[in-house]
Amino acid sequence: MKNFTSVTDLGPLDQAIKEAFEIRDNRYKYDTLGKNKTLLMLFFNSSLRTRLSTQKAAMNLGMNVMVLDINQGAWKLESERGVVMDGDKPEHLLEAIPVMGAYADIIGVRSFAQFKNRDDDYQEKILNQFIKYSGRPVFSMEAATRHPLQSFADLITIEEHKTKAHPKVVLTWAPHPNALPQAVPNSFAEWMNVADCDFVITHPHGYELDASFTGDAVIEYDQMKAFEGADFIYAKNWSAASPEHYGEVLSKDRSWTVGSRQMAVTNNAFFMHCLPVRRNMIVSDDVIESPRSLVIPQAANREISATVVLKRLLENL
Ligand code: CP
Repeated sequence: MKNFTSVTDLGPLDQAIKEAFEIRDNRYKYDTLGKNKTLLMLFFNSSLRTRLSTQKAAMNLGMNVMVLDINQGAWKLESERGVVMDGDKPEHLLEAIPVMGAYADIIGVRSFAQFKNRDDDYQEKILNQFIKYSGRPVFSMEAATRHPLQSFADLITIEEHKTKAHPKVVLTWAPHPNALPQAVPNSFAEWMNVADCDFVITHPHGYELDASFTGDAVIEYDQMKAFEGADFIYAKNWSAASPEHYGEVLSKDRSWTVGSRQMAVTNNAFFMHCLPVRRNMIVSDDVIESPRSLVIPQAANREISATVVLKRLLENL
């Protein structure tokens, strides 16, 4: 694997799952593969799980790790060509990227949607500049439109807990006080469309995700109807994705908060969320604390998904 930015980079999912289970059962099996290789992790945005799980994955493989918070410990970076750099950004990405590439063998980048320009976000301008100019394999640690390490961990978690070959998986919008990117729901939709499941997305009108991600998913605007018979409920907030309302918060309707009322019509579904989660906005205390909540196994599987991805990138160096 040359880079990892979406599900298509991973190839057949059954093989990736097999590899994930092999690593889960012996996570130090490849502990010399990364000897004398350096991972550089770059964060334009905050992180808890991605930072720790990816660093742990690199250590599982024997790699050296460097972590840089771009907007805290480093110079602020300009990303546009042609800008007269007389503002608060003393360095340009076009110099910074190859410099960083000189110190690393593999680069991980976290760069969220900026909500200034939908086209820029949906073209993944920052991530693609790293791929183009670093001269190194690059993987996404959540970009503007996708969070593939999370979706891979989500798929591993579903595979571990499903009790039927073709489960019903429901992605539901839930309210949040702030405008959040579409990366997690886009990515989850993309992965579920490839996985073997009956996939339904439910959200209020105005929260339609881009069709390039939702694919063949059934879109159901009635949340209770969508939840009927579900085996897995995946809750997430996202802001509007349409060009007309891109990045806007159109609703904070707390009747969409996932609680025992909605879970009661499911097939005793498991509850999933990528974390961090705002309790009693996205999900009630009782649902997230129930024995059917998978939020901690999902987070734990981030180490497994990152180990598989780094292993594949190391094997291709
Ligand atoms: N789920 C996830 O990516 O968590 P962090 O933002 O804390 O890394």
